[in-house]
Amino acid sequence: MTTMESLIGLVNRIQRACTVLGDYGGGDSSFSSLWEALPSVAVVGGQSSGKSSVLESIVGRDFLPRGSGIVTRRPLVLQLHKTDEGSQEYAEFLHLPRRKFTDFSVVRREIEEETDRITGKTKQISPIPIHLSIYSPNVVNLTLIDLPGLTKVAVEGQPENIVQEIETMVRTYVEKPNSIILAISPANQDIATSDAIKLAREVDPTGDRTFGVLTKLDLMDKGTNALDVLEGRSYRLQHPWVGIVNRSQADINKNINMIVARQKEREYFATSPDYAHLASKMGSEYLAKLLSKHLESVIRARIPSITSMINKTIDELESEMDHLGRPIAVDAGAQLYTILELCRAFDKIFKEHLDGGRPGGDR
Ligand code: GDP
Ligand code: NA
Ligand code: MG
Repeated sequence: MTTMESLIGLVNRIQRACTVLGDYGGGDSSFSSLWEALPSVAVVGGQSSGKSSVLESIVGRDFLPRGSGIVTRRPLVLQLHKTDEGSQEYAEFLHLPRRKFTDFSVVRREIEEETDRITGKTKQISPIPIHLSIYSPNVVNLTLIDLPGLTKVAVEGQPENIVQEIETMVRTYVEKPNSIILAISPANQDIATSDAIKLAREVDPTGDRTFGVLTKLDLMDKGTNALDVLEGRSYRLQHPWVGIVNRSQADINKNINMIVARQKEREYFATSPDYAHLASKMGSEYLAKLLSKHLESVIRARIPSITSMINKTIDELESEMDHLGRPIAVDAGAQLYTILELCRAFDKIFKEHLDGGRPGGDR
């Protein structure tokens, strides 16, 4: 792995360890500020715009509840950890720490059941996140957050204020200056009415941290295309727009797997008279690489502040360790060590990075 890959991997693991500790209630606020200092990608868009589908394509695995109506009802904080080539792919939930999931259809069922555990089998939502980690040689190091879809009206069985409630929840994620916004809009609706773009424009007016994603290109009316959007003429962002073709509901019902779906998506762009000239910059694989690269540059730019935050955490942890005479949960104690070790590792790799090359860049 490159230095940058190991740094991003460490940032990922530090975030996870902070979360675990926060959850045991044994931590203090420095863990949440450390977490907040680290970047993550929030996926926003209207209901059924294709958010969960895009996430699955980025991961290259089927594991999310998907479909029409409100399916995602709690935030899902998804951490992707790149592991060594050839190692077994598995998933782990924060609420089930000692269980390794290798069957991803079981992961989906657990997300559904864990959602219901808080909200009941209703159409209600909850801001309490579900934390899931995926360890795989086939992913890029990323933290992604799947969020309930923005809506305009409450449906049967939902409280009247749900529209506002969802927006408030999504806002808390995208307002953070370290949040990267993956704004999903479906190509078969007018971009001027996109909930994702409307919100992104409000919280990130310069478009520095917004990535525009256009899904459902295959569902546009015959004879029309999305070039005005994809080429940045309809709504300009700092980063290029990425067009996506996810699996349709019919594909999902037929159990078309992810490998086949990605292949179909590649073919779609390569053979499309409208989009062939953009083919190398379209699709979910390209999007995953683009995001990972961006995350890398964000972390690179923030290395000084992340390092000082990490050093502060090391100091606090070391003094906390000195006081470990007092009763502390075994798990929390172990997590403190984990964070301390990860922070030390980050600091060490970062120093080697500085010694070994030009500060702030190895490109
Ligand atoms: P979410 O509510 O934003 O998370 O959207 P989902 O990912 O659950 O997708 C909603 C529905 O739209 C599902 O039936 C998907 O199969 C379908 N869908 C999503 N993206 C595409 C796409 O690019 N093309 C087609 N044909 N269908 C899609
Ligand atoms: Na949905
Ligand atoms: Mg969803």
